[in-house]
Order: sequence, then structure tokens, then C-alpha cells
Amino acid sequence: MTRHLLTGTELSSAALDALLTRALELKAAPLSSRALAGRSVALIFEKPSTRTRLSYEVGITELGGYPVLLRPDEMQLSRGESVRDTALVLSRHVHAIGVRTGPDALLAELAAEGSIPVFNMLTALHHPSQALADLMTLREAFPDRPLSALKLAYVGDGNNVARSLCVLGGIAGADVAVASPSGYELEPEAGGSRTSDPVEAVHGADAVYGDVWVSMGDEATADARRAALAPYRIDDALLDAAAPGAIALHCLPAHPGEEITAEVLYGARQRIWDQAENRRHAQKALLEYLLAD
Ligand code: CP
Ligand code: NVA
Repeated sequence: MTRHLLTGTELSSAALDALLTRALELKAAPLSSRALAGRSVALIFEKPSTRTRLSYEVGITELGGYPVLLRPDEMQLSRGESVRDTALVLSRHVHAIGVRTGPDALLAELAAEGSIPVFNMLTALHHPSQALADLMTLREAFPDRPLSALKLAYVGDGNNVARSLCVLGGIAGADVAVASPSGYELEPEAGGSRTSDPVEAVHGADAVYGDVWVSMGDEATADARRAALAPYRIDDALLDAAAPGAIALHCLPAHPGEEITAEVLYGARQRIWDQAENRRHAQKALLEYLLAD
């Protein structure tokens, strides 16, 4: 069966655990694997990206593979070629397809019509590539404790990043608490717990996680979001309300002074810049897994 990473639910807890262990190994020896030698991976970006593009493109190259960057507006997709035909042709040339787009249905269709792994590089609803690096960063920060013994608090908009943390954190057995204001909550089915109180969410938490208040595609409601989410800023006082030794995480890009203070973003308790680096290591482990013979 062809392996995919569309939402993260494709991974068993054992597969996720092995993938995170492998990610830490690859971080210790970044050029030790040639798992993608002679193989090409298409990376389709319909939305802007800094980290995801960098980490996949460099990671594929480090694995001996060749990344093929594609923009939908430069493909025949933009002139009406079907997703089905696109999937059939990509399957004849490359060995996997990464996609950053709005609709999850596009990924599902590529996966259904093609014959190669498809992985999610961010959709409106999910960001599992990010969550892999987030869980890896937790393993790295708390090496003596299993993920199932950790509590992670996400504070802010109930968005794609929050959903993937709940989904993949749940598979890993971690306790994930999400604090969001009314109107911006994540659905209960994603897993984890919900509250509107950031202090309640971070109580006992080993990591406090933030993301932008205005995601790509949400620009029309930016003012309302900033007003509703203002009490959900991650600052030193909120970190003080978490467990002793708690770390701050953020998927980036950040807006210092908005969802996170500059003191936290660049301070002693953050693991945010390690987290950004870990994107590459975690995704290399993912590609090895997706393309395992
Ligand atoms: N965190 C993340 O996905 O960053 P980019 O949008 O820069 O890829
Ligand atoms: N929630 C953000 C994440 C950016 C990496 C967005 O979708 O824009």
C-alpha cells in the first residue's frame, strides 16, 4: 500500500515513535542517509513558505534526492488540466508529491489518482509536517520523559497547526490542551481538551505553543481576530503559570508583540529556533518512511 501523510492519522503510534527516533538520529548525523538517491520529489506550493520550502528542499537534497519545485499557477492545472491527469503524470516522473494548498480535497484526490506517496505541507485544516517537528522538539527538550508523560498547551486560534498538534500529539499519547476564544475554537473531534482560559490550559504544561492569529487565507477577518485573540498572547507571565522548566514553542512566522512577546520569542525558555531547524530532520525521517521499499 502506498503511504501518505495527509492528516497524520495515517501514522500508528509505533510508526510515529520510530519516525521521531529516526529524526533525532538524522539530526545527529545529517548526511548519513542516501535514502532518496536517484529519486525525485515534487514540491507544489500554492501558498507562501519559508521554512517548509527550505526544510523539504534541503532535506531531500541531503538524502541524495532531487526536489522539483512547482507552482500551480505555472502548471497546466491553472489552465484546466485535471488533478487526476496531473497525478498520473507526476507518478511517471517523481517518487513522491508534497503539496501546500488550501483544500485538503486536492491532496486526497492526488493520493487517490496517483500511485506515489503524497504528503501535506500545510492545508487550511492541517499541518502535519509541522507537528512532526514539534513532537521531535519535545522529545529533544525532555529526553528523560516519554511524550505520553508530557502536557502541551496550545494558546490561540484553533487552526491547522492546533489541529495537527491535537491529532499527532494524541497519537503520541501526549496531553494536549487548547485555549481559544469563542468563535475560534477547534472541534472536539481533533482530540485533546478545550478551554477559553489560557491560564487553565497552561497549568502543568511542559510546553506552551503559539501560532499566528491571522493564518494565510484569513486576512479578511484580521481585525476581528486580533481583537478576540488579544488575551491569548504568550508572554513571560503565561509561561510562569506553566510547569517549572516549561518551554515556549511557535511554528513561525511570528509577530512579536502580537501572539507572542519578543521576550519569549528570543528568550531563554524558547525552543522555537531549534523547532524551526527540526523541520528538516523530522521531514527527512518522514520521507524515508514514505519511500521505504
Ligand atoms: N511553519 C511553517 O510552515 O513555516 P512556513 O510557512 O515558512 O513554511
Ligand atoms: N496557521 C498558519 C501557519 C503558518 C505556518 C497559516 O496557516 O498561515
